[in-house]
Amino acid sequence: MTIKSTNTVWHHATISRQDRERLHNHKSVILWFTGLSGSGKSTLAHAVEEHLHKIGISTFVLDGDNVRHGLCSDLGFSDSDRVENIRRIGELAKLMIEAGVITLTAFISPFKSDRDNARKRVPHGDFLEIYCLCPIETCEQRDVKGLYKKARAGEIPFFTGIDSPYEAPEQPALVVNTHEESLAESVQRVIDLLVQRGVIKNIDVIA
Ligand code: ADX
Repeated sequence: MTIKSTNTVWHHATISRQDRERLHNHKSVILWFTGLSGSGKSTLAHAVEEHLHKIGISTFVLDGDNVRHGLCSDLGFSDSDRVENIRRIGELAKLMIEAGVITLTAFISPFKSDRDNARKRVPHGDFLEIYCLCPIETCEQRDVKGLYKKARAGEIPFFTGIDSPYEAPEQPALVVNTHEESLAESVQRVIDLLVQRGVIKNIDVIA
């Protein structure tokens, strides 16, 4: 990427991330959900957000389909557009954790190097990669948006898992088998991860 914004000077805020975290009474972190289309990223991210919100935790979900209606509406699905999509989301998520918010991102984010770049932009431990693991056959059976059918019919080029690659995470913080566990179980496992990492205090999701 060519950097064009020259002659700019960083302005240091007088209120720090730690001040905002103290105000919110919890730490902030990026929960980066990755996986095929239809693997359950958005469903899980929103369900986790709901539970956190109920106990007074500041959250925000950045969702692939939604962000592509605005911030990234100029980007398609070529490799280079996906790289730029994930670069923007990485930067946005970085700003959001500075704001003291637990930021949940739900993007296919198919390339390992893009996810690694997003991880490197924030302090160690502030990027928790969650792999929504689901066989493509199951995603295709679910076909919630009818896109696999269209992709198989040749109507959507470069569809992830069909004619565009997905590189699975090698060492994710958590693997969620969305085809085997219930949504409540997956939510609990994400919450447990947040507790283990000292982001929030213990809460029970499954009654
Ligand atoms: S990413 O690859 O750049 O991370 P992103 O998560 O933003 O993708 O958007 C994926 C969503 O866009 C899918 O869930 C699907 O609804 C839609 N989509 C449209 N075209 C494609 C395509 N060629 N490959 C994958 N998803 C697509």
